[in-house]
Amino acid sequence: MRSIALLNQKGGVGKTTTTANLGACLAMLGKKVLVIDMDPQANLSVHLGVDIHNLKYSVYNLIMGECKPEEVIINTGIENLDIIPANIELSGAEIELVGVVGRETVLKEYLGDVLDTYDYVLVDCPPSLGLLTLNVLTFVHELFIPLQTEFFALQGVSKLLDTYEVVRKRLNHNLEITGIIFCMYTSRARLCNEVIEKVKEFPPLGDKAFTTIIRKNVKLSESPSHGKPIISYAPGSHGSEDYRALAKEVVQQENSKVS
Ligand SMILES: Nc1ncnc2c1ncn2[C@@H]1O[C@H](COP(=O)(O)OP(=O)(O)O)[C@@H](O)[C@H]1O
Ligand SMILES: [Mg+2]
Repeated sequence: MRSIALLNQKGGVGKTTTTANLGACLAMLGKKVLVIDMDPQANLSVHLGVDIHNLKYSVYNLIMGECKPEEVIINTGIENLDIIPANIELSGAEIELVGVVGRETVLKEYLGDVLDTYDYVLVDCPPSLGLLTLNVLTFVHELFIPLQTEFFALQGVSKLLDTYEVVRKRLNHNLEITGIIFCMYTSRARLCNEVIEKVKEFPPLGDKAFTTIIRKNVKLSESPSHGKPIISYAPGSHGSEDYRALAKEVVQQENSKVS
């Protein structure tokens, strides 16, 4: 089982789009995949067709200890792709957890060993480094960092890396940055290539970038409103092609690991 968080405290960089589409593409390759929506905006849940207004349980109930993991996991309608959905209730969780002992590890604790039944667990983080994100960072083993190929892309990366180092030291020694994903690439801008070069100057990021670069593609921005991943909504699009290539590269990481 690989557990991977899509992390960047900047909003609008492609976390949710990547969680939904990478998850769907890995499922298409026959992998058993669970995605977890940890953003109170619930964009991931909506993207994958979940009716967030009629949920019996959401991730909020799970971290409050109000339901079992088996009760909150639902199938997305796509074979091999399950989700723990969120809704707006999650926005109160950070405050409600303040007085709770072990508040950084409630998610890990309540998930228990249900994760072991999956090949991949992908977690969509909220755009902050607050308590919800800490709860993710304490149980995943890997981080994928989506970056936009634009001038401000690296703003905030130092802060993100500081948090990463603190979490590694105090809460989760197993945490590793294992992938940088460039999203919304437009080949015309020379700037894009400059950003790709600049990333190499941040030691823990270094050479972690995936070869696959996700191009800007209008079909990717349309698919959430249809409640479908790109491979169902527009299978022949560039977006579909790119995320399928990324999924293959993610699987290949396992073969290239020296054990
Ligand atoms: N490669 C892409 N091409 C075009 N639009 C994209 C692409 N990736 C993401 N988007 C759109 O950009 C917006 C922000 O992406 P999103 O994945 O929601 O970012 P985040 O989760 O980091 O806030 C969304 O409207 C999404 O549909
Ligand atoms: Mg998002």
